[in-house]
Amino acid sequence: MPTVPEWIEDYATVVGPEPDDVIEEMDEYADREGFPTVGPAVGGWLELLARMVGAERVFEFGSGYGYSAYWFARALPADGEIVLTEVDRDELDLAREYLDRGDFEATIQYEHGDALDIVDTYDGLFDVALIDNEKTRYREAFEAIRENISPGGIVVADNAIAGGSIDADAVTDLLTGDSESADEMSEGIATFIEALHEESDFEASLLPVGEGVAVGHRTE
Ligand SMILES: C[S@@+](CC[C@H](N)C(=O)[O-])C[C@H]1O[C@@H](n2cnc3c(N)ncnc32)[C@H](O)[C@@H]1O
Repeated sequence: MPTVPEWIEDYATVVGPEPDDVIEEMDEYADREGFPTVGPAVGGWLELLARMVGAERVFEFGSGYGYSAYWFARALPADGEIVLTEVDRDELDLAREYLDRGDFEATIQYEHGDALDIVDTYDGLFDVALIDNEKTRYREAFEAIRENISPGGIVVADNAIAGGSIDADAVTDLLTGDSESADEMSEGIATFIEALHEESDFEASLLPVGEGVAVGHRTE
């Protein structure tokens, strides 16, 4: 469900990188099954952001059937790596089928299970982390990977504006101190953004496309 008027979402999609046939099929699958991917406007941004930071390694918390990962994979060099994590094995199997068709040279890791456990099994720096798992655990996901984000790298979190019971006004009120409580998903988003603000080596902003993408940039 886009949070901006549909014509702006369509405009952003047209301005962004062009989808290939596999992405178009993945979009059709999302429409048919009602699966909540980030959507093509955000997908294009993910590819572009990965290119802008010269990403070589990407970690995803919550990959579904590989939609966001496919956009990232388009930006990765041959010696790059992307780690997909997913609690639903069928989704992960489907991700492998779609990504195989992309014929990418980068290494693609398919990890079945809880992303918060899997992240601890990986060493080394990541240039991009996508947080798209349970909204109540965004802060936990950020804290688990923040030390492993390379200087100049980014953390991107979907659903910063909407999705489920997320209410952007409630998130704003929590962040400004005008309110102390909200529903648990809105609180999940707010506590994640607070965590970004608490880190002196991260700066943050919001991309208001799709369901809203919070972007944290590690400056040093
Ligand atoms: C909103 S979907 C988005 C998937 C993908 N990023 C995309 O854009 O298509 C989130 C996915 O995360 C998975 N998920 C939720 N919590 C998870 C966790 N703790 N570890 C791994 N996967 C998780 C869900 O099963 C779901 O498939």
